[in-house]
Amino acid sequence: MLSSNDNDLMCRTGRDTPMGKAIRHFWIPALLSSELPEPDSDPVHVELLGENFVAFRDTEGNVGLLDEMCCHRGVSLTLGRAENYGLRCIYHGWLFATDGKILETPNIPDPKYKSRFKAKSFPVKEAGGVVWTYIGKPADMPSFYDFPFIGAADDKILPTVQIIGCNYVQVLEGLLDSSHLSILHISQFRQAALPDIKFVQNTGHMQHDAAPRIEVEETQFGLHYGAQRIFGEKAETNVTAFISPFFILNPNDIYMAIVPMSDEKCAFYSIWCDGVQDYGLEPLRSKQLQTVGLDKLEECGMTRKSFYTSAKACRANGFRQDRVQVAAGHHTGLGSFVQEDAFICMSAGGLRDRSYEHLGTADAAIAQMYRSLLKSARQVEQGGKPIAYQMSVANLSGGRFSLPVGTDWRSVVPGNAAQTKVA
Ligand code: FES
Ligand SMILES: [Fe+2]
Repeated sequence: MLSSNDNDLMCRTGRDTPMGKAIRHFWIPALLSSELPEPDSDPVHVELLGENFVAFRDTEGNVGLLDEMCCHRGVSLTLGRAENYGLRCIYHGWLFATDGKILETPNIPDPKYKSRFKAKSFPVKEAGGVVWTYIGKPADMPSFYDFPFIGAADDKILPTVQIIGCNYVQVLEGLLDSSHLSILHISQFRQAALPDIKFVQNTGHMQHDAAPRIEVEETQFGLHYGAQRIFGEKAETNVTAFISPFFILNPNDIYMAIVPMSDEKCAFYSIWCDGVQDYGLEPLRSKQLQTVGLDKLEECGMTRKSFYTSAKACRANGFRQDRVQVAAGHHTGLGSFVQEDAFICMSAGGLRDRSYEHLGTADAAIAQMYRSLLKSARQVEQGGKPIAYQMSVANLSGGRFSLPVGTDWRSVVPGNAAQTKVA
């Protein structure tokens, strides 16, 4: 349970909020590289922490991120044209380079005019199939992440993004909540036609125990938590890491980032990578996407464009719940894993009230995440740095282990807090 003040402190990320300032200390995923598929492809509207940007790929393939509104008279550059080594505003034809330099001002004859100022641009890096940006104070810009998937070959990674109509903390909660897998997703586990892939092998046991033993460990980067389900001599163990303020390292080879777009909308990035399997190649790529429902984002209003159409799940369309399927025995009627997760989170409202919730032992990791996020916001509010700022994350991970009953899960987790080094 949180007071409404603490809830706002944790969830609101606009430019002048404490949590907004905390998150602006980090490199943030802005969009997937594949959303700008080729030089001079269509520009993309990017929302981050309540601010609007435009991303484009120039004629040479370089990515730029600019303030969305043209610095001439403030219209949207998302309507613009990527051409001639820049992004052209269609109103009066001003052309901007990726660094904000003004290359052409066709309606202003003075050739010196364009060198007097620049459009506001932001640093970007393309890595791991993601375009990352930094929108905080230049003096606070940290070194870039050293996650193992950064720099992995394209055939070893499967990057995806879903747009979800609720606050980022609501999605994070679902990712620190092992018990819901055995209930919300029960019909997915019971399907007859699941492919023989690692994700299915690693999660199948969950359908048999909805009350895992949950233990949480506060760490320098946020938290580790272990969820154990006991079957005879074995403790089937899933360990998840939360790296403040928005990363989840999931036991199933998934690096996740839940990025606030606004206070009531977020972008959920999943990068599948274990360094071994060809997640980026067929047939594994399609099997992964189909198994969890990531192949159906467009029709469910969960892509950057379809989110703004009637395809999006909302109260008016009953969150797309298929009651005929429910009557036929499907537990939710909401679709596959990602639809069930997204729509159940959205059903709580854009930014849910936590003043009347009742957390139990199953929610221990969620409660610790609240404490971690609030601590970061308060530290920044008092002039300090947020948790996990400038931290090496190379050795951190989640993990899936089949352990003899009684084994301490902490002893097998790579990057356990005791081994974590601060860069
Ligand atoms: S408003 Fe963009 S060029 Fe005039
Ligand atoms: Fe889920």
